[in-house]
Amino acid sequence: MCGIVAASAHREVQDILISGLRALEYRGYDSAGIAMQANGILDRQRTMGKVRDLESLLEKHPVKGVCGIAHTRWATHGVPSDRNAHPMSAGDQVALVHNGIIENHEELRAELIAQGREFTSETDTEVMVHLVAHLMDEGHDLYNAVQRAVRRLKGAYGIAVVCAAEPGVVVGARQGSPMVLGIGDREHFLASDIYPLLPVTRQFVYLEEGDVVRLDSESYSVSDKEGQPVERPVKTADLNADAVQRGDYPHYMLKEIFEQPQAVAETLEGRISATRVLPNIFGVNAGEMLREVRHVHIVACGTSYHAGAVARYQLEQLAGIPCMAEVASEYRYRRPVVPDKTLFVCVSQSGETADTLAALKHARSAGYLTTLAICNVPESSIVREADLVLMTRAGPEIGVASTKAFTTQLVALQLLVLELAQANGLEDELYEEYVGDLNHLPELLNRALDLDDDFAQLSEHFVNKHHALFLGRGSHYPIAMEGALKLKEISYIHAEAYPAGELKHGPLALVDDDMPVVAVAPNNNLLKKLVSNIEEVHARGGELYVIADHGAGASFSERHGRILQLDTGGPFLAPVVLTIPLQLLAYHAAVARGTDVDQPRNLAKSVTVE
Ligand code: M6R
Repeated sequence: MCGIVAASAHREVQDILISGLRALEYRGYDSAGIAMQANGILDRQRTMGKVRDLESLLEKHPVKGVCGIAHTRWATHGVPSDRNAHPMSAGDQVALVHNGIIENHEELRAELIAQGREFTSETDTEVMVHLVAHLMDEGHDLYNAVQRAVRRLKGAYGIAVVCAAEPGVVVGARQGSPMVLGIGDREHFLASDIYPLLPVTRQFVYLEEGDVVRLDSESYSVSDKEGQPVERPVKTADLNADAVQRGDYPHYMLKEIFEQPQAVAETLEGRISATRVLPNIFGVNAGEMLREVRHVHIVACGTSYHAGAVARYQLEQLAGIPCMAEVASEYRYRRPVVPDKTLFVCVSQSGETADTLAALKHARSAGYLTTLAICNVPESSIVREADLVLMTRAGPEIGVASTKAFTTQLVALQLLVLELAQANGLEDELYEEYVGDLNHLPELLNRALDLDDDFAQLSEHFVNKHHALFLGRGSHYPIAMEGALKLKEISYIHAEAYPAGELKHGPLALVDDDMPVVAVAPNNNLLKKLVSNIEEVHARGGELYVIADHGAGASFSERHGRILQLDTGGPFLAPVVLTIPLQLLAYHAAVARGTDVDQPRNLAKSVTVE
């Protein structure tokens, strides 16, 4: 999704803005641009392509100054092109960058054209810059013009605006799209998340919905959605700029895959002892409320949904509580039937996914007992909206493909499963065994990662394929879904996941000697059933790859295909451990195919529009 960086300082800020855009590249984008305000003039450069293309352009046509705005655009309205790239400008008077979608842009555009304004792009954004310019023509200063302009907007926006007439001033606003103010030493910044600003500050003010902020190098002020001046707390980020460096890894994705043992250890830290889930990890007094829970609804998107789908199996199995897991884009538009004492859980790495956030808002008035967010980004919109929060502690995830976010979500959900299971009659012995298992998880993940070379070799069989099938049963069906999603999103090989028992109801027709089939085989009560399904594939000449727990390996033979075995730590942990091979398979296949692993085409890291 789009990214914004803006700055006002006593030093030239173009390098801060460009390196900020680099730090935002992970969000996914297709054009980039910058506008600088100097000596009463606005200077702007924009281009299709990557930040490096913008840098090449700036070498030929430098844009310099102490105050400016910059943007990476992920096209929604209007194709990716130079003229649709941001900043948008109204003549040489105002320049504006925007994240989000303006829903009433057509009506505003018609009104502004009737007033004689000329549009040059196909974007929804352009109406905002003309609206602000129009209000300034009526005599309002930039801050006032933006405050008035945003009242006319329907939809979602995070914006930063500069104008020729007010040197050193940047005005920003947010509604449905996050914006953060960075406080430096006699300099101030705005950005769509904190990562681009970490090299210049760790002091942040998170804007609230409807806020408008005016900043210059010396000061800033914020007004709320009623237009009233408001103080927002200043928070210090724990992260430093190193946390978002790639180090010696060729890709962020590989770095993040290898960070999983640590990320999982941190997610468990202070939350479990050797035998128990510690009290109050979901918040003070949350334990009492969770003991009342009789149903659970889990809602999320993409990979986060897969984590929820795994939890559904584990929750029903261990806690005996009915659970539904659903994708947020569906849930948000239906009328959920909410049984008495139902817990609503939303899962999101970014905490900004538009559908998940909308689902959470929808849930808040639907009669749930309470809402819980499992999220990786502190201060995100979802974290602020939920009643209870359990943070995953994966650290910044930059690769578009979720890896450590997923395994830490699985673990956070397992903590919830154990909490609810204990309150609902899971025998102490089993409860303690599963908590004990979690303590060993980081070590098991390390051992799975030691098999990287084996999975790299396995990936060679996929490099020239066009399709692949992933099979799993029970809680490993969502793991197969996650394996298929990883492969398709970064290698562009079409991949589908099926519950293995469903094969003969249709997909078996696809199986031939050119169709790799990956089966995920934990050592559990469904193993025999899975072996039968694998026989069905084998009998049709399918090219089989079985990723099996050590204990399950004996159920397969070489005649079934290639068998790769690893220690999963038993049925409770197996979904987490068996994820590692699937991530590595996808990663190596994508590298061999030469795709853009960290920023796959057409995708964005944080999907802040519907
Ligand atoms: O930030 P979220 O977890 O809410 O994002 C939801 C999905 O967009 C995300 O999980 C996506 O499917 C993955 N990045 C794919 O690897």
